Amino acid sequence: MRPTPREASPRRYLMCPPTHFEVTYSINPWMDPTKPVDPALALAQWEDLLDRYRSLGHTVELLDPRPGLPDMVFAANGATVVDGRVLGARFAHPERTDEAAAHLDWFRANGYTRVRVPEHVNEGEGDFAVTSSWILAGRGFRSSPLSHDEAQEFFGRPVIGLELVDPRYYHLDTALCVLDAAHDEIMYYPGAFSPGSRAVLSRLFPDALLATDEDAAALGLNSVSDGRHVLLPQAAVGLFAPLRERGFEPLGIDLSELLKGGGSVKCCTQELRS
Ligand code: ARG
Repeated sequence: MRPTPREASPRRYLMCPPTHFEVTYSINPWMDPTKPVDPALALAQWEDLLDRYRSLGHTVELLDPRPGLPDMVFAANGATVVDGRVLGARFAHPERTDEAAAHLDWFRANGYTRVRVPEHVNEGEGDFAVTSSWILAGRGFRSSPLSHDEAQEFFGRPVIGLELVDPRYYHLDTALCVLDAAHDEIMYYPGAFSPGSRAVLSRLFPDALLATDEDAAALGLNSVSDGRHVLLPQAAVGLFAPLRERGFEPLGIDLSELLKGGGSVKCCTQELRS
């Protein structure tokens, strides 16, 4: 066990307000278009997350929401940024296709020059998680395995492909969270992965925090860590004590309305790594 206290490092995030958020189609098992969404509550909960980041000293950039793209609030899916290089997204479902261009426009307008329009389907940080040694990459539901090679070639970092097998955990970031990128520390839910991918994870991360069925089902892995503070869905109550034991400071966030779209803290947050 590493000594406490942990150190936070200032981050830069990209978020998109849920102005047009609604659940009108279903592309994951969490989405039920017959269940009503409260738009005012969705916005208030999202603003609370934004305020938390800012009060922790992080910089949050905002992407303009576009009408007709209700899932745009899940900004993590729109690109992956590592070492200032931007790999755009290419969505698996037509309902989300146009979000990719909105992200690319933002990066170009904000001075990013090393921008790649992807050849293969990838849903950004939904399926790419970055540690100092590796880029962990999900496949099975959304991102194509071919996008893993594309990311490795573009970023020049080793990409570890991981097979997702449970439709509730359709993106890597619903099943795995990087707690301390610098020291390759993660938490994950083993049940979301194929046997071979579970073996890879336990080989690379023997000390990882393993989430229970209940905490995974509360989308507890869909969390964001700055190296010290871990912002996570507040219903994932079983994760708080083990995180504290490891020296982290868990901060519960209520994003109940966005959960109806199948996303939580991490889905709303794209990290801009310079
Ligand atoms: N409704 C969205 C979808 O199914 C939710 C995306 C959540 N984002 C995430 N990073 N897991 O694509």
